[in-house]
Amino acid sequence: MRIDVVTIFPEYLAPLELSLVGKAHRAGLLDLRVHDLRTWTTDRHRTVDDTPIGGGAGMVMRPDVWGEALDGLLGDDGAVELLVPTPSGERFTQRTAERLAAVPRLVVACGRYEGIDARVAEHYRARGVPVTEVSLGDYVLNGGEVAALVVVEAVARLLPGVVGNPDSLVEESHGAAGLLEYPVYTRPPQWRGHDVPEVLLSGHHARIARWRRDRALERTAERRPDLVARLPADALDADDRRL
Ligand code: ADE
Repeated sequence: MRIDVVTIFPEYLAPLELSLVGKAHRAGLLDLRVHDLRTWTTDRHRTVDDTPIGGGAGMVMRPDVWGEALDGLLGDDGAVELLVPTPSGERFTQRTAERLAAVPRLVVACGRYEGIDARVAEHYRARGVPVTEVSLGDYVLNGGEVAALVVVEAVARLLPGVVGNPDSLVEESHGAAGLLEYPVYTRPPQWRGHDVPEVLLSGHHARIARWRRDRALERTAERRPDLVARLPADALDADDRRL
């Protein structure tokens, strides 16, 4: 998969060279390219923004500069998806990450200030480019760069070969079960007066699986009742319903 990130702060994306995503990049599992938006400016000051038409505070990113950048990166064949992080986008979830992990090419356009002139998304949609505006959550960041880091990491770890043991993608929070993950423990079994739950030391796989499922349900009900409300009717088995 190829991901191009366009930003006025390419250094912000440096952490993508670390850890699993960095390794995936070096191994050729992920073709990651970070571009400086100012490369596509033509004036002496390398201007990327201007005042909002209609008035108001802050600055808006200019459509002409973004147009120059995106024309080349998106091409004409509709095979590349454009992702624009913005607090006014649709919520970015594990489902979004799963969908994007199946896309061959993605361009992430990082806005700053009050965002990118609205005609940019409108123009590429009209040209047949799939455009998704995504929000990480209900809060405002200073720009799309941190969101781009989140999106690239969430997508890259789903690509084949990136996470060493693919089993670790199966039971995690926001996975197929629609529940938060159960609590996890390692050695030592006693630590500062806190014991690992007895059942986990029992070696009884069915009892361990039941205990984990109960804790996942309990935790989800307590911390994210919205997720429980969204579970499909057949998501709960007879033992779950007794809870
Ligand atoms: N840019 C600024 N705030 C954002 C948010 N909450 N999600 C995605 N991109 C953003």
